[in-house]
Amino acid sequence: MRILEILEKERGELFVHTLCYTGINAAGKASFNGTEKELFLLPPGGFSSLPDSAAGFVLPVCEFPGDFFFSAGEALFRTVPSSLPFPKLRAEMGGFLTVSSRASFLRPLRAGVLTVSDKGSRGEREDTSGPALAERLRGIGCDTAETAVVPDENEAIAAILKNWTDLKDLHLILCTGGTGFSPRDITPEVLESIAGRKVPGIGEAMRQASLRITPKAMLSRSNAVIRGETLIISLPGSAKGATECFDAIAGPLRHGIEILRGWDGECGSPS
Ligand code: MTE
Repeated sequence: MRILEILEKERGELFVHTLCYTGINAAGKASFNGTEKELFLLPPGGFSSLPDSAAGFVLPVCEFPGDFFFSAGEALFRTVPSSLPFPKLRAEMGGFLTVSSRASFLRPLRAGVLTVSDKGSRGEREDTSGPALAERLRGIGCDTAETAVVPDENEAIAAILKNWTDLKDLHLILCTGGTGFSPRDITPEVLESIAGRKVPGIGEAMRQASLRITPKAMLSRSNAVIRGETLIISLPGSAKGATECFDAIAGPLRHGIEILRGWDGECGSPS
């Protein structure tokens, strides 16, 4: 689907834009062309319901899903509760949008971020990798529903992963740490021990992209597995290594999860 119109209402006057920039201001509020504004999605002809001091994107649909991420142009939004009959948006990622930008509703994914670190679990090192990955997850329309820091111990890692897959039914789990050569680095082995299927391409993609950044990328044994309907990925322990690796694989993750869940069987569409 494509954006049909970009509208702004200010002091009762309606403005029509062909291009806009949406972002998040210092107060954490949505901004529209640099000014704080409430943002909405509107059906065709919905301009009359747009509140004052707000902006709206008109879409070629009359009914909206209940809870979703909205991806349009470079920007990503999340729906927030509102008393109005059409969705109110919170900007998750700022960006430019134009009339006729491609737009889609994304089903929110639920993820867990597990930091595997002896020092982190004892409170001797601040966990920067976990929060950095959680931030990245928002960018692909994923809510971080669970976070934990555990030591590099088989039982501790396996117990959390089993809980998050079998009981919490998370769609995606990112583990950070324990992928290197230290005798206590066992995260990839724990993943393989609790899962039925391996996903070698994800580890390959992370190392392939990371080798362009640092030859040390070959020292990470990062891997990915599937347990039930949950994709579990291990990434390096540093925030730099974890986010670089995540960026290398982020693009197709949603498609993989949709296939795993049986929501989407179509692999031929452009991505
Ligand atoms: N991959 C990227 N993209 N960037 C990095 O900085 N660091 C490497 C490697 N992979 C790195 C990377 C280093 S120095 C190590 S030791 C391994 O990841 C393993 O990290 P871990 O033991 O913290 O999991």
